[in-house]
Amino acid sequence: MPKLIVVNRSGEEQAVEGDNGLSVMEVIRDNGFDELLALCGGCCSCATCHVYVDPAFADKLPAISEDENDLLDSSDNRNDSSRLSCQLVMSAELDGLRVTIAPED
Ligand code: FES
Repeated sequence: MPKLIVVNRSGEEQAVEGDNGLSVMEVIRDNGFDELLALCGGCCSCATCHVYVDPAFADKLPAISEDENDLLDSSDNRNDSSRLSCQLVMSAELDGLRVTIAPED
């Protein structure tokens, strides 16, 4: 199972695992991180699953869609590493991915 390293808003880091095919958002939520609200349930319409992705993985991530880009633009906390975690899917290629939960807007 691919490993995911999650850094919460207090800066605490925890390694978790998630099945291939689950979204990074689902893995974060299923492991009890209640800071990640994911209000829309993963249908790319809320931006409450905003994370910063370790730049070392930037070239392994799927391209950002227009919807995701628009939603991220609505966040005051967007930076170059911003992604919506519901749009990232766990896979062997992303094993060891490190994400930081973005501040709440
Ligand atoms: S969970 Fe709503 S956009 Fe990701």
